[in-house]
Amino acid sequence: MSTLAKTPREIHAASAYDVQKIRRDFPILHQSVHGKPLVYLDNAATTQKPLAVMEAIESYYRHDNSNIHRGVHALSERATEAYERVRVAVQKFLNAADAREIIFLRGTTEAINLVAQTYGRKNVGSGDEVLITAMEHHSNIVPWQMLCNEKGARLRVAPINDRGELLLDEFEKLLSPKTKIVAVAHLSNALGSINPLREIVRMAHARNIPVLVDGAQAVARTAVDVQVLDCDFYALSSHKLYGPTGIGVLYGKTRLLEAMPPYQGGGDMIASVTFEKTVYNRLPYKFEAGTPNIADTIGLGAAIEYLNHLGLDQIEQHEHDLLTYATEAVESVPGVRVVGTAKEKAGVLSFVMDTFHPHDIGTILDREGIAIRTGHHCAQPVMQRFGIPATARASFGLYNTRAEVDALVKGIHRVVEVLG
Ligand SMILES: Cc1ncc(COP(=O)(O)O)c(C=O)c1O
Repeated sequence: MSTLAKTPREIHAASAYDVQKIRRDFPILHQSVHGKPLVYLDNAATTQKPLAVMEAIESYYRHDNSNIHRGVHALSERATEAYERVRVAVQKFLNAADAREIIFLRGTTEAINLVAQTYGRKNVGSGDEVLITAMEHHSNIVPWQMLCNEKGARLRVAPINDRGELLLDEFEKLLSPKTKIVAVAHLSNALGSINPLREIVRMAHARNIPVLVDGAQAVARTAVDVQVLDCDFYALSSHKLYGPTGIGVLYGKTRLLEAMPPYQGGGDMIASVTFEKTVYNRLPYKFEAGTPNIADTIGLGAAIEYLNHLGLDQIEQHEHDLLTYATEAVESVPGVRVVGTAKEKAGVLSFVMDTFHPHDIGTILDREGIAIRTGHHCAQPVMQRFGIPATARASFGLYNTRAEVDALVKGIHRVVEVLG
């Protein structure tokens, strides 16, 4: 993930990475769009799914479909076991200390809303502050804004420089006794910048302030160890991790989760109910009201197994090589300017072109079979910071190739021909 020089072992590992073989696991990649081979470079929006994920979901519905936790019959026991096995797989994937710290939700957005509505409502009061950064996705802005509006608290924003890097000194200056929680992206979806999480956590913890990390973009691109990071909450979405939509995870430290009130009320999150009083269930079920998304949780489990098999270190190296190659190639096209040039960067290549609107760039590239994203990427304040309405964004995944980057560059030349 970093741009630092790689060791010989890492270089050897990368050379063993067989991207053509990997591509065979993703049926969707093998199609034509507008008569051209599909080049899928919209992985920051969502990733494609390997066969193993589709097969796991299908197998669950074919053989094991049943509601979990409540049944004594064989199907319910199998479904419960499969669902809970994924919790342990996620625990290991993030190196969380305990499986009870893994809560299944719809995705990153819901995970952040949960923390804002439970931890936030309990601990943030009038005159208090919530600290975020200027590179956040809307889902790590709006839930905090809603909380601050409700409580009469203030949302503070740590600035970034022209390369799209967090200004750590400024960040530290904004920490005060009023700060009740810090919420930061691990990796910016609009700029690709990687935040220095260990320093951020150290600075916040020195003042007893908990840190939530929005890991939506990072988790498929680098190995995450929540105990090494020492963050208090980590949010992720399965669909950015080569798993299905509709399922995601909140990791939280036991001590904090125990003290938080439940998020939603309903079945499964209770130990006992009378009309007078409800006793809530233990962790993690306290935060999983109602029938969960069992099938997609099992799909997430298959995605994690797939990533573990390939190795996050190898994926990171592969994407690092692609990003370096793509940045040089795209920048060499006259009139192109890359937005987001942080030293520590991964996965995302945002750019603008003189006089051409990103929407037109995206439309012409689509005619060439190339899928990129154009717009504000749910990060309007980032666009305002750089004084632009939108960018064109190519984002890379574990199955992308240098030949696809070449196709992108050819496509950008085509944009110049058509619009120039
Ligand atoms: C950095 C970041 N945070 C949060 C999200 C929201 O993820 P989801 O829509 O899966 O909840 C995204 C999605 O693009 C993202 O890139």
